[in-house]
Amino acid sequence: MLDLLATEVVTLNNRITEVLDMTRVKQLKKEPCDLQNLITKAMEENKIDGINFEQNLVSVKVYADSERMKQVFSNVIKNAKDAMKNNGTITITSEIEDQYVITTISDCGQGMNAETLENCFDPMFSTKLAKAIGMGLTVAQQITEMHNGKIDISSEEQKGTSVRIKLPIYKED
Ligand SMILES: Nc1ncnc2c1ncn2[C@@H]1O[C@H](COP(=O)(O)OP(=O)(O)OP(=O)(O)O)[C@@H](O)[C@H]1O
Ligand SMILES: [Mg+2]
Repeated sequence: MLDLLATEVVTLNNRITEVLDMTRVKQLKKEPCDLQNLITKAMEENKIDGINFEQNLVSVKVYADSERMKQVFSNVIKNAKDAMKNNGTITITSEIEDQYVITTISDCGQGMNAETLENCFDPMFSTKLAKAIGMGLTVAQQITEMHNGKIDISSEEQKGTSVRIKLPIYKED
């Protein structure tokens, strides 16, 4: 039974990834946009009383679909809020590294154990009960990769989590 279940989960994961793939690229409306502006909008979407944002952002442009890139930051910020049970500080910093801008979103929440860290990008993987469907990071990763970027996570249980989102800088000439 367990073997069967595991096979079904793999099949389901592949299907979902296929569906996400199909909705890719086509609908992207890329244009030069201010990264700081996107992140600020994502923070505003997640504003609540218990959460405090600390930020240190560089002013750069990225060539992006602004709605979708905002969603990436919003999904990650939402997870940080959840991990801290809606109470604490989320730190967002960005730095330039060669042709890339790296934004790091850190929380002091519950962190992830090794199993969660390994599976957190999988479609429908969630450790949350009820409302969550486990697609926030899947979608964030897909969108980031659609922008030739990369997202990775480091986390320590009971300490917190840092999510790094690396994007190519848009150079106008
Ligand atoms: N900042 C974080 N701190 C601790 N655990 C996290 C963090 N971000 C993600 N996770 C873990 O990764 C899992 C997957 O995250 P993801 O955003 O994909 O799904 P979700 O938040 O559970 O559901 P959804 O985003 O669809 O509402 C979470 O259930 C949680 O266990
Ligand atoms: Mg989420």
